[in-house]
Amino acid sequence: MSEELQTIEGSKKEQYKTLIPQLKALIEGEDDVVANLSNIAAALRQTFGFFWVGFYLVKNDELVLGPFQGDIACTRIQKGKGVCGTAWANETSIIVPNVNQFQGHIACSSQSQSEIVVPIIKDGKVRSVIDVDSKELDDFDEIDQVYLEELAKILSDLF
Ligand code: SME
Repeated sequence: MSEELQTIEGSKKEQYKTLIPQLKALIEGEDDVVANLSNIAAALRQTFGFFWVGFYLVKNDELVLGPFQGDIACTRIQKGKGVCGTAWANETSIIVPNVNQFQGHIACSSQSQSEIVVPIIKDGKVRSVIDVDSKELDDFDEIDQVYLEELAKILSDLF
């Protein structure tokens, strides 16, 4: 894998379509989870300029902050708490158009306005979640969900 990430001008869908194969190639031949998730977070930030993008990892029955790009964030989240803990408990992706209207939202940054969380599931168990935050309201839709879920499937092999 070359060290250069190819990014294109175009629709969000086209950008994801260009990005996903590169992310696959990026983690090929490397089995270290932290190394891979770090590069994935960087590649997502580099491509889309996300305000915050990163991973929480399931450890001893709680979510613990993993590799991310963005401002400092809360380190531990309990199952069922916040958007991340709810996505974990429900084993589904969650799009939150307005975080102020999500009961129990955990505000790591007061600047965050909308959010998407996608669980990474292996052998029927959630191992991690992908969390992306935006400073804009209603910034995520089913295109993000479809492609981040595709990414989550690829990353499940790391666990
Ligand atoms: N807002 C998340 C917490 C993680 S930060 O956004 C990075 C939540 O409610 O689970």
